[in-house]
Amino acid sequence: MHALAYVSKSQMGFDQSSLDMLAERSNRQNYSLGITGYLCYTGELFLQYLEGPEAEVAGLMERIEDDPRHRVIEVVKLGNIGQRTFPDWSMRYLRKSEWERFDFEKLMLDMLEVTRRPHYRQELIQDFIIRIVRRISETKSP
Ligand SMILES: Cc1cc2nc3c(=O)[nH]c(=O)nc-3n(C[C@H](O)[C@H](O)[C@H](O)COP(=O)(O)O)c2cc1C
Repeated sequence: MHALAYVSKSQMGFDQSSLDMLAERSNRQNYSLGITGYLCYTGELFLQYLEGPEAEVAGLMERIEDDPRHRVIEVVKLGNIGQRTFPDWSMRYLRKSEWERFDFEKLMLDMLEVTRRPHYRQELIQDFIIRIVRRISETKSP
């Protein structure tokens, strides 16, 4: 079982219905690929976590990177994770109202602020991604 997480910037306005459509379609496609994970959106940045068989995760990530609706700015390969962390989440869309439960809103907003700077260190974004992913998995399975 392999996992990765990435952050991207949206290149168009995603309103609630386009997000719902994206989440619904991803949920269905990921289920058939054996991929689980989640997606968050600040209104500017996406953060997505994907876990599943290595080839399927890599193949999906290629398609996602080709999607002109956003621009991927940082991918973190989390490698072999043994067991799934989110066996029941085909592609869970975490709404802002749920962020509180997982307590990562400040991390997302701080990361957004960094990506708005003209120059930033990529390692900084990777560090944010790793901290957010860890926070969500700890809350999911304490
Ligand atoms: C932020 C973001 C996350 C996405 N996540 C997924 C995903 O988890 N699964 C998926 O199948 N497509 C996802 N997509 C859509 C893919 O980029 C791509 O449009 C889709 O897989 C193409 O397949 P289709 O032509 O059969 O819809 C995502 C797109 C964006 C912008």
